[in-house]
Amino acid sequence: MPEIERPGAQSWVPSAGGVRALRRAADACRGCELWRDATQVVFSDGPASARIMLVGEQPGDHEDVEGRPFIGPAGRLLSEALDAAGIERSKVYLTNAVKHFRFERRGKRRIHEKPAVGHIDACRPWLDAELGAVRPDVVVALGATAARALLRRTVRIGEVRGTVMEAADPAGTALVVTVHPSSLLRLRGRPERETAFRALVADLQRAGEVVA
Ligand code: URA
Ligand code: SF4
Repeated sequence: MPEIERPGAQSWVPSAGGVRALRRAADACRGCELWRDATQVVFSDGPASARIMLVGEQPGDHEDVEGRPFIGPAGRLLSEALDAAGIERSKVYLTNAVKHFRFERRGKRRIHEKPAVGHIDACRPWLDAELGAVRPDVVVALGATAARALLRRTVRIGEVRGTVMEAADPAGTALVVTVHPSSLLRLRGRPERETAFRALVADLQRAGEVVA
């Protein structure tokens, strides 16, 4: 396979202006090749004054079309879980580790493809800038991709969930790692789903306790 050149997002990230400036600038990002096939960049949702930041993997099909994070099936499940955890979705800052949808075309369908470590690294300047602008008290990594972006290393979710860790940057930011809500979608109709849902809610509650 030919080597793909990924300069990374740093030359597109403005150094001032807060989340609004970041959102505006992200549109032009060419830090990796994912912008090419995606419909648009999907930046964040929620107030910059939020004390809780949730980080997903990458926009899905719906998000790519609408331009907003977590509005598809995984997003609905996340809303349910936040609700059950007593956290108002409108008060959290929601974003993704990778800002463009990576997919494979199969006929007319676009099949989600996990971002590679190279995409996570290329896109991380955006996430770091968001962390710097929002300065949340606690960040929740939804799944392994977000955990990798926030910890700079690969972790097994089963081994790290249930504890409050520390994000790599800014130092001192509490970090809770949990599963991605889409992992529950795959369990639909199975008895394990209820247990998995309760575990996700418990992880979100742990994040809520940090800011209580
Ligand atoms: N999955 C994610 O990780 N992020 C979204 O925005 C939607 C689905
Ligand atoms: Fe830039 Fe991230 Fe999109 Fe790659 S995925 S082009 S780094 S915004």
